[in-house]
Amino acid sequence: MIAIDGPAGAGKSTVARLVAKETHLPYLDTGAMYRCVALQALNDNVDPHNQAAVARIASEISIVLEGSATFLNDVDVSNDIRTPEVAAVVSVIAALTPVRDAMRTQQREWIARHGGGVVEGRDIGTVVFPDADVKVFLTASPEERARRRVAQAGGNIDEVAAGISERDHIDSTREDSPLRPAENSVIVDSSGKSIDEVVAEIVNAFEVTRR
Ligand code: CDP
Repeated sequence: MIAIDGPAGAGKSTVARLVAKETHLPYLDTGAMYRCVALQALNDNVDPHNQAAVARIASEISIVLEGSATFLNDVDVSNDIRTPEVAAVVSVIAALTPVRDAMRTQQREWIARHGGGVVEGRDIGTVVFPDADVKVFLTASPEERARRRVAQAGGNIDEVAAGISERDHIDSTREDSPLRPAENSVIVDSSGKSIDEVVAEIVNAFEVTRR
């Protein structure tokens, strides 16, 4: 079991997918789950700050993660959860404890069903799977993270940088499981490193625990 946490744009998804491939472990993107709750709230015109209403959504929707596809109530929303509209509200929704409780239960069930995995998020090494074999905190400079997001998804660099910094702020100052490196985590700064280098670093750290 490998836990990879870190802020937006640090390269978590790309790196986690490749690490999963090399280690033959299944891959779980927990951010996609919070994005599903946010998408459903937007579709239902629910105020993201309305804890009771958002909690109800989190407990009622069905989220299925298969490979790289995400299904919300049996509909493939893999693209719909990546819009700027979802990004703008997801951190507000993810700060709500009932939402986090519902998602964590599903994450633990997913791991139990798959017998381990490479799990990516914000609180995986700190709260969800503190006993993971390897815990990684993957980060990069704010400038580099904004540049990567624009290269990947387009948009105006200043707006993307502002969105990321707003989300970082909410994610790292919330009361319930704020984003921070877990105890005994390997801190990897990916600024100026190639994807392959970062992947190799994490795979090596995992292999050491297997010996
Ligand atoms: O891909 P990116 O890093 O932009 O975001 P993501 O991993 O899809 O996560 C989207 C948002 O979900 C984060 O900004 C957090 O607010 C929330 N999240 C969380 O609170 N806990 C997790 N384990 C994963 C995501």
